[in-house]
Amino acid sequence: MILVTGGAGYIGSHTVRLLAAQGLRIVVLDNMVYGHEEAIVDDAVQLVRGDIGDHTLLRSLFEEHKFSAVVHFAAFAYVGESVTNPLKYYRNNTSAPLALLEIMQEFGCRQFVFSSTCATYGVPTTIPITEETVQSPINPYGRSKLMLEWILADCETAWGLRSTCLRYFNASGCSADGVIGEDHNPETHLIPRVLMALTGEAGPVEVFGTDYPTPDGTCIRDYIHVEDLAAAHARALDHLAEGGESLRVNLGTGIGISVKEIIAAVEKVTGKTVPVVMGPRRAGDPAQLVADPSLAWRRLQWRAKHTNIEETVKSAWQWMNGPRNGRYNS
Ligand SMILES: NC(=O)c1ccc[n+]([C@@H]2O[C@H](COP(=O)([O-])OP(=O)(O)OC[C@H]3O[C@@H](n4cnc5c(N)ncnc54)[C@H](O)[C@@H]3O)[C@@H](O)[C@H]2O)c1
Repeated sequence: MILVTGGAGYIGSHTVRLLAAQGLRIVVLDNMVYGHEEAIVDDAVQLVRGDIGDHTLLRSLFEEHKFSAVVHFAAFAYVGESVTNPLKYYRNNTSAPLALLEIMQEFGCRQFVFSSTCATYGVPTTIPITEETVQSPINPYGRSKLMLEWILADCETAWGLRSTCLRYFNASGCSADGVIGEDHNPETHLIPRVLMALTGEAGPVEVFGTDYPTPDGTCIRDYIHVEDLAAAHARALDHLAEGGESLRVNLGTGIGISVKEIIAAVEKVTGKTVPVVMGPRRAGDPAQLVADPSLAWRRLQWRAKHTNIEETVKSAWQWMNGPRNGRYNS
């Protein structure tokens, strides 16, 4: 039995769907602040509404089920908000998981898969980013995640917790069959934001900075498909179940795509012209964030399968034009 926190969110729900299809028994714990009940599509998955910081609830869940591992997605992930309201991020992303870890220690559950982020690297000095690149986050969100990486390492020393910290780059795309997808509110991720400019759900896309030291002057990111992320979690769980040691690995494609290239890919996939406004740079945006994902291959035998950005954009567009029009009801 696996406990998945934040499993009703974007990446969590795609992962839960894959793990359930592989026959794992899953309990999702989500306080539904940003989660969607309809994103849990497998009837065998139990959804518990509650907070990862709730000791009493956690204890009753661990008494009821024998969890072999925890997959921890639950967190807040708006970088800008973390700057204006840092305590909200330190409370939810760093402090609340302590309750979860305390209960895991109490019940002898010692395997933990953690959603970390490329934001822990801050402004990297070299590209591509390896796991050896210095972690020097430049905002409270990145720091709130890095602190949990450190806490996990300390728990390993103290009571033998083994963890895989999966440092995702830019999660993107939606399920291939269009059944589940990305529904953030507000939406800050580039691909859905560009698509929303086409559907009229949002105004023109503002491009933040056109004078970066990149070939077309716009920022470059590594877009990793959500189904590839889901597959990496399955591998990380296997690795821990087989007795594998703790790991910190980048999850990206290794391919850098600029903002202008995303807009061009959207125009090609949809056949429509994206309304765009060119604006100044936004504080705290590194010019490039691109992963060296080779360690994940060496240690987890995982690599991204979705490396064609137009295919990724197509999956997001399909979700937006599907029966739900890119939105869950809840
Ligand atoms: N989306 C990305 O590009 C990206 C990149 C790097 C890392 N991450 C990390 O991956 C994880 C998932 O991201 P996402 O895009 O799916 O976000 P999301 O907001 O869609 O999912 C997070 C889920 O966690 C739940 N949650 C939040 N706080 C909770 C709490 N205290 N108790 C219980 N549930 C809680 C929310 O309701 C939501 O369903 C996050 O930890 C995020 O920091 C995301």
